[in-house]
Amino acid sequence: MGSSDSYVTGLTTDLDSEIGRLVVDMGLATKSEIEFCREQQKQSSDPNQRSLADLLVEHNFITVNQAKRIRANLDDRRSAQLPGYQLISKVGKGAMATVFKARQLSLDRIVAVKVLPKRMSDNKEFVDRFYKEGKAAARLAHNNIVQAFDVSCSPDGFHFFVMEFVEGKTLYDFMQPPPVGEGRNFSEDEALDITIQICDALAHAHQRGLIHRDVKPKNILLTPSGVAKLTDLGLARATDDKEAAESEAGKAYGTPYYISPEQIRGDVDIDFRADIYSLGATLYHLVTGRPPFEGETPAAVMHKHLKQPLVPADHINTTLSAGIGEIIDVAMAKKREERYASTEDMLEDLRAVAKHQPPQHARRAIDLDTLAKVEETGQTVDIEGQPHRMTFQELGVQPTVIAILAGLAVSVVLNLVLLLLWLLS
Ligand SMILES: Nc1ncnc2c1ncn2[C@@H]1O[C@H](COP(=O)(O)OP(=O)(O)OP(=O)(O)O)[C@@H](O)[C@H]1O
Ligand SMILES: [Mg+2]
Repeated sequence: MGSSDSYVTGLTTDLDSEIGRLVVDMGLATKSEIEFCREQQKQSSDPNQRSLADLLVEHNFITVNQAKRIRANLDDRRSAQLPGYQLISKVGKGAMATVFKARQLSLDRIVAVKVLPKRMSDNKEFVDRFYKEGKAAARLAHNNIVQAFDVSCSPDGFHFFVMEFVEGKTLYDFMQPPPVGEGRNFSEDEALDITIQICDALAHAHQRGLIHRDVKPKNILLTPSGVAKLTDLGLARATDDKEAAESEAGKAYGTPYYISPEQIRGDVDIDFRADIYSLGATLYHLVTGRPPFEGETPAAVMHKHLKQPLVPADHINTTLSAGIGEIIDVAMAKKREERYASTEDMLEDLRAVAKHQPPQHARRAIDLDTLAKVEETGQTVDIEGQPHRMTFQELGVQPTVIAILAGLAVSVVLNLVLLLLWLLS
């Protein structure tokens, strides 16, 4: 059991004892320094005596900032004490909730617990959806989906979601530039491998009627052995997609880089094709090192999702195969009717390109799109992003002209041979 484990085991109601243990566990001060300050507290007759944290700062055992961090850490742990689970440490915080590493006492196993803030409890519709979708997610079982275990509520009114704990980092953590992340670039093969795993996970969920609605690098965990796991599947959002995207307001929690146009419009009949778009956008980011659309504000980014044509991924990273560019183009079509007709189709294409074969479904979709444009305008159009070799017919050269030119070439060669023979004789 780790040091923070031992701290949590002894959660007490005495705030100063908790602070003392945490400071020692974090290696910020020694036990004797804590005892020294505790002794001072005991000897003081002042009813408004200072807290242990203040005394530690006063004696220069810890800094003001360290004291602040310790208090915040304790607040998080205290606000989320859940029956049946022993909180070990905070692993992350998103726009909506805080995630803890915890021990499920009944089964003695490590789990991740996502605790919603109290304010969410007032929204009855949201709480109902949270339980309904949590139960649906718990019925899924797939190696590339973070397994959902339980949804419940603490006696103090905190709703929480219990799931498999994944040792690893999110794709976002890998991609962010240092010092936040590792600033890692993914090769085409690595990106395909991750996207295939997540597409497989989505196909499994979609077959069972579950749509993710928030596929993005932050919701994909990558284990040290390279297994990609989709998290937050089936987790209801507090607001509709449009509001949620707007509330992600650029600063604290990122910008809506991966959201589908129909979610931006606030359409009510969101289906699996929204996930296909977001997976395409995630793949785009993995292989180009930047999100598909960037902008100063979330609104600017969303506007581009709706209106701006995508710069093909293989134009940004020219080392990419044409196939991966075609997959992204189809997955990220603005009109969902032009995207993959099923998640399995996208999966087949991803697997084909990983084997250096052409993506059949995407090619067909692009050809149909081209055909529609030809019919619309009466002219031929270039298929953007594809290395397209022109045939003689496309160049406007008739077969008869080709035959005459070939005949002329043969006669020139024959005449040259005859001239050579005459000169030699
Ligand atoms: N099952 C899990 N196992 C381990 N760590 C997890 C797990 N689920 C989430 N995390 C960690 O917790 C962090 C917060 O997750 P959370 O879903 O609350 O927010 P987010 O996805 O990062 O952002 P947003 O709120 O914008 O969706 C993640 O970034 C990840 O590092
Ligand atoms: Mg998340």
